[in-house]
Amino acid sequence: MFVTRKAEFSASHVCRLAHLSDQENQEIFGPAANPNGHGHNYVVEVTLEGDPHPITGMVIDLKELKQILEDEIVTPMDHRFLNYEVAPFDKTVPTAENIAREIWFRLEKRFRNSSPSLRKVRLFETPDLYVDVAGEDFASS
Ligand code: NI
Repeated sequence: MFVTRKAEFSASHVCRLAHLSDQENQEIFGPAANPNGHGHNYVVEVTLEGDPHPITGMVIDLKELKQILEDEIVTPMDHRFLNYEVAPFDKTVPTAENIAREIWFRLEKRFRNSSPSLRKVRLFETPDLYVDVAGEDFASS
């Protein structure tokens, strides 16, 4: 079975590459390259896969899952300027794709070799744009 929990955080970012000129960054990233940054209300949906416990009927204790999302995502990223305050975004462009992948890596450490397993991370940057990271993409990471 699949269990999905949602968490939200608000953060600022700039999408630009330091070794490129302002014009080149503008061509690649558009307005998102503005060095002043801009914010998004990110929504992340984390899906776990496992069997319900025969007695409790639960795939995972939902309080425990909520705490993991707080510790790994919300507390470190909420109200942060990602490029300056959250590694690895001092070195990696904080696109929705890269943020989703970083969230995957952070959670994968918590669910490695465990049941339930981490199945999918879906990150909404806006209500009409999301990125999915699924387990098989990173199975050997
Ligand atoms: Ni943006």
